[in-house]
Amino acid sequence: MWRVKSLDAVLATAEKKSLHRSLGPVQLTLLGIGGVIGTGIFVLTAEAAQKTGPGMLLAFVIAGTVSAVAALCYAELASMVPVSGSAYTYSYAVLGELMAWLVGWALVLEYAVAASAVSVGWSGYIVGLLAHLPTPIVIPPALATGPYAGGIVNVLAVCIALAVTALLTIGTRESATVNACLVAVKLVALAAFMWLALPVMHMQNFHPFAPLGTPGVIGAAASIFFAYVGFDAVSTAAEETKNPQRNLPIGLIGSLGICTVIYLLVAAGAIGSYGAQPVFGPHGEVLEPGSRALQVMCSSLATQPLVCSREALAHVLRSINHPMVGNFLGLAAGLALPTVILMMMYGQTRIFFVMSRDGLLPEVLSRVHPRFRTPHVVTWITGVAVAFAAAFLPVGQLADISNSGTLFAFASVSVAVMVLRHTQPNRPRPFRAPLVYLFGTLSVMGCAILFVFLPWQARLLFPIWAAIGLAFYYAYGYRHSHVGRELRDIPPDA
Ligand code: ALA
Repeated sequence: MWRVKSLDAVLATAEKKSLHRSLGPVQLTLLGIGGVIGTGIFVLTAEAAQKTGPGMLLAFVIAGTVSAVAALCYAELASMVPVSGSAYTYSYAVLGELMAWLVGWALVLEYAVAASAVSVGWSGYIVGLLAHLPTPIVIPPALATGPYAGGIVNVLAVCIALAVTALLTIGTRESATVNACLVAVKLVALAAFMWLALPVMHMQNFHPFAPLGTPGVIGAAASIFFAYVGFDAVSTAAEETKNPQRNLPIGLIGSLGICTVIYLLVAAGAIGSYGAQPVFGPHGEVLEPGSRALQVMCSSLATQPLVCSREALAHVLRSINHPMVGNFLGLAAGLALPTVILMMMYGQTRIFFVMSRDGLLPEVLSRVHPRFRTPHVVTWITGVAVAFAAAFLPVGQLADISNSGTLFAFASVSVAVMVLRHTQPNRPRPFRAPLVYLFGTLSVMGCAILFVFLPWQARLLFPIWAAIGLAFYYAYGYRHSHVGRELRDIPPDA
């Protein structure tokens, strides 16, 4: 179980089966921004505010810092091993098969559960948008949320998850051009938000800054970390990148840097212009975001604070007297969030595909549709699971579960980069992470701390998920592994 797939074998595989290299630094950065900006900033600002109030600004900084040090480690590995599979592949080459399996298994949480979270976030915006049409269309509350907030099933979230699955099955991968347009839509909407909200900030809205203390701030950072999830998708495009040694680090670090600046400005605008204090229960008790108790409390209030909204940024704009721009922002979110779902589901199917190509998952998963030439079996399995989770769980809880898997993957990549510096110091490194032992250690520690501050449900689910994964590995992957059976990982004519 400690067997590794040598780096040279990984690179040889990629070379044999190389894809057309067409992406440059700008497209890669846009790809990163396209995958990153989504539910985190558009929806979860409300959840972060409920956890810590204006202190969410600090939460964005903490989560961004952890992501930045992890991004440096990703950049070094992605430039050395520019192949598909991202954290899973790096772990296979450096930490061995068992760790690779666990990382791949954790990436299911990162990608698939994130797709569910973004589907729920999208549904919140669409429900709000329909209700603000000149002739309002009201989705019955029973069909607008899951049981956590008094509904039955989140129908719109299910619909978007299945629609994206269908698109992926018939092979509509978004093109770089479509992606660039939708990124532009998101950026224009967020720019409009900043333009309108920043000038009307009131300093008193920042007081009290962190009503729930340091644990509140770090807890919010652990949740808002979701806003940064997805930049690693840039590394999954390694095989389609021109001059990956130079362009991958630019794409990874560039997209993360741009997103961090945008997040801080948008969060400051929301807090300063409208306020972001948490809502407490009737006896001053802390209420969990997304909970029924918070929902009940919110419905008893005459004006809805930020933390009660399921479409946080649109709500702020409507409340500061820009209803039209608020609706435009809702529309922009409605158009652009599905690309994040697409990106996440695509990443998920890619990871499953690579794992099955390595023999760790049954071959049926990498079966390709005869007409559409897409891995339809794994796409539908993923899609149905994503839709199911989106139907019944709240966005915040899904984001927290996704974060638990992502934090594990980021920590593994950071360990891998340090191990590789030690074991293969002379291997060419087109991009060398600066102060790698310091930043690598900081990244591992940061991931561990954020994990500890996740809500208990996410913390509990992760080891259960890992245990199921281990059982699977010993029942199947251990015996079928191509590396273990000394097989070539792809047939020569593939
Ligand atoms: N970072 C992505 C989002 O916020 C997953 O939606």
